[in-house]
Amino acid sequence: MKHLFNIGLFTAALFAVGSVHAAGHGAAPAKPADGKAPAGWNQNLSDEESEQYQAMNLPTSRENGIEVYEVCSACHLTEGWGMTDGTFPQLAGQHRSVLVKQLADIRALNRDNPTMYPFAKKESIGGVQEMADVTEYIAKLPMNPNNGVGAGDNLAHGEKLYKDNCVKCHGENGEGMADKYYPRIHGQHYKYMLRQFEWIRDGKRRNANPDMVKQIKGFSDADMAAVIDYVSRVKPPKEMVAESPDWQNPDYD
Ligand code: HEC
Ligand code: HEC
Repeated sequence: MKHLFNIGLFTAALFAVGSVHAAGHGAAPAKPADGKAPAGWNQNLSDEESEQYQAMNLPTSRENGIEVYEVCSACHLTEGWGMTDGTFPQLAGQHRSVLVKQLADIRALNRDNPTMYPFAKKESIGGVQEMADVTEYIAKLPMNPNNGVGAGDNLAHGEKLYKDNCVKCHGENGEGMADKYYPRIHGQHYKYMLRQFEWIRDGKRRNANPDMVKQIKGFSDADMAAVIDYVSRVKPPKEMVAESPDWQNPDYD
């Protein structure tokens, strides 16, 4: 039964992936279902009525987290490591606050993700309790030791750009800031980050922090590649990374 469910899900996921690239470029951004303007950055994070706030403040169940994550693993993999080619980001080890915010933004159509949207909806995974449980589970998964990196041909320039433009939010080593919802970006796949960085720079990722947009608006494509290449090579703390690239998540068989 479980097995059949997975195959069906995976087929659905593959279909969805086929359409993401077509939908991702040049298509009009989806409007929130209730017709309201998109919330932009950080509107609901301290609003006690919001999903984000509630999910961050509920007690969590690891067992339920494992169950909910099964759907997610069709794309993000059971290890939460995503894909080097950038199709799916690594989620393992990300700050829980960031996972909650991004998931809530995707559900609310405040961040366009047509591939994932059907699987992220309340009807598919449930409400705030499921959001709380699944994000708590993901945040504790060990990270991929072999994340995708760039060409390695402009790293000194990338390092300088990083120090001058990114440290104040993403930290000295790309560790981000949990309490401010700034993502951990070390250990993330280069190609995924390049796409997000470009979308943030060009205003396509609508939930982006406006101060980041300002900070990077003068970046050329070469600057962008250099700085992302640099940070993709910064190693997360050892205790957060899996011992081996062959590690398999024992919670799924
Ligand atoms: C059908 C494939 C698919 C499924 C299933 C899926 N995702 Fe995703 N997810 C994606 C894609 C693709 C992206 C990146 C979108 C982009 O490039 O903007 C993403 C991005 C994310 C992000 C943002 C990561 C970041 O670094 O900002 C989070 C968080 C996330 N997914 C969590 C989940 C959770 C939790 C589930 C299960 C409830 C799930 N996803 C199920 C495809 C999927
Ligand atoms: C003012 C704070 C700030 C600055 C400066 C900043 N960022 Fe960000 N960055 C953020 C926030 C906040 C997000 C998440 C935005 C969201 O919720 O959509 C983000 C998202 C990202 C992402 C996407 C991560 C993901 O998991 O999807 C990348 C890559 C990134 N930043 C790289 C950089 C780099 C490289 C620099 C320097 C050139 C930089 N940022 C400067 C705050 C900042």
